[in-house]
Amino acid sequence: MTLRILAFAGSLSSASWNRKLLDEALRFAPETFSVTSIHLKDYPLPLYDADLEKETGLPEPAIQLRALMKEHHGLLIASPEYNGGMTGVLKNTLDWMSRKHGTERGLDPFMYKPAAVISASPGPYGGARSLQATVFLLHRLGCVVLPDTLSVPNCETAFNGAGQLTGKNEKALRRVMETLARITLKLNG
Ligand SMILES: Cc1cc2nc3c(=O)[nH]c(=O)nc-3n(C[C@H](O)[C@H](O)[C@H](O)COP(=O)(O)O)c2cc1C
Repeated sequence: MTLRILAFAGSLSSASWNRKLLDEALRFAPETFSVTSIHLKDYPLPLYDADLEKETGLPEPAIQLRALMKEHHGLLIASPEYNGGMTGVLKNTLDWMSRKHGTERGLDPFMYKPAAVISASPGPYGGARSLQATVFLLHRLGCVVLPDTLSVPNCETAFNGAGQLTGKNEKALRRVMETLARITLKLNG
């Protein structure tokens, strides 16, 4: 059985540091895992609107994302920090994805799914507050959120010339991926 991880960053920026962090994390994914790395820009969603949902149901990108999530055994999310919280695009995406669709229950794509959260910021705290908010939200949605995390502060200088993390950041990121692999295997083996 191939274990599948769905990975995305909560940023629409083409120069996203969290995207770089996510790409770096994927370097440490075990070969036995199949990782699908997506860009939220490819799943454009309107702001959640109960009237819109009532009139036309879930937008097509939300239906696609829900289906994709259901096909995967685990989640890896890089969560940028805006004003001490997660980005609007990440919160909005997760809100749409938590809505009931057809015969499916709202939280079906999330329930008991292992999830790892990482973050990077040019600031001194590495987006740790956004990470905490995302951990809390994923827990609320029913995910099994890993205790292992990584927040990379001063990210503009944290990656070397080859775009790789070094030292304790690299070690922590490896640990996040090892734990994600181990827990995903345990829950699905
Ligand atoms: C509206 C806004 C608010 C921000 N607030 C914070 C913040 O509270 N803490 C922080 O560390 N960085 C903050 N930043 C800086 C972001 O961490 C920085 O833009 C980062 O590159 C965003 O992640 P990304 O590169 O993956 O898109 C903020 C940026 C924006 C645009």
